Amino acid sequence: MSIDLHARCDDPVEAAAQALVDAIEPALRAQRAPGAQPCVRIALSGGSASKAWPIAARKLGEALSALRLTWVDERCVPVADASSNRGATHRISPARAAQELPLWLDDESPAEAVARVRSELRRWGAALDVTLLGMGADGHIASLFPGRAWDGELVRFVDDSPKPPPRRMTLTRDLLCTARASILLATGESKRTALMGLLAGDARLPAVGLPHLSLFTDLDLSSGSQA
Ligand code: 6PG
Repeated sequence: MSIDLHARCDDPVEAAAQALVDAIEPALRAQRAPGAQPCVRIALSGGSASKAWPIAARKLGEALSALRLTWVDERCVPVADASSNRGATHRISPARAAQELPLWLDDESPAEAVARVRSELRRWGAALDVTLLGMGADGHIASLFPGRAWDGELVRFVDDSPKPPPRRMTLTRDLLCTARASILLATGESKRTALMGLLAGDARLPAVGLPHLSLFTDLDLSSGSQA
């Protein structure tokens, strides 16, 4: 599976934001059939990749009203907690999609969260259109970690994430694979080994084999050494 590689980007955050817009706009146009209610399903990462969202949201403007938005993963903490991905998205961008699907609600149990999110994702058609992903230095995306389970129906609860906090909700790899565009934004030297593994097709990494994957990075990945 080929990767659309954008290495040595001067401004990878801006480039990833533009890629998000470029993926969302045609999906919206394709749905503008007479009488149809356009609806593009997008899932956002937490962590540093989320910085692309406010830029994309500004560019999208009114098109936001045709988006259904969720997150590729969430930490099981109150939305007001500094580590909540949903809370962080709200803090960095005032823009709101027409519909938001939180992966975690305050005071919800993991079983309740899984049942609620699964049921809503089924209403969405059990598929996504566009994802914004980040990657950890260990090669994880969302809360899908090398050596751990990635499967399950649409969403799963993780109770022992190697990256804190330990309790998380994550979309499954199968669901991430339904997206027609996956935009991976990973910057900084700490991500080099994981990104080289991705380009080499290391099957231990959950991003390997994701269809329609575009990678945006400041790194020069033409060799293992620093640019
Ligand atoms: C999360 C993420 C996670 C993140 C990576 C990279 O909520 O933890 O969605 O998958 O994208 O851990 O995070 P950084 O870019 O901040 O290192």
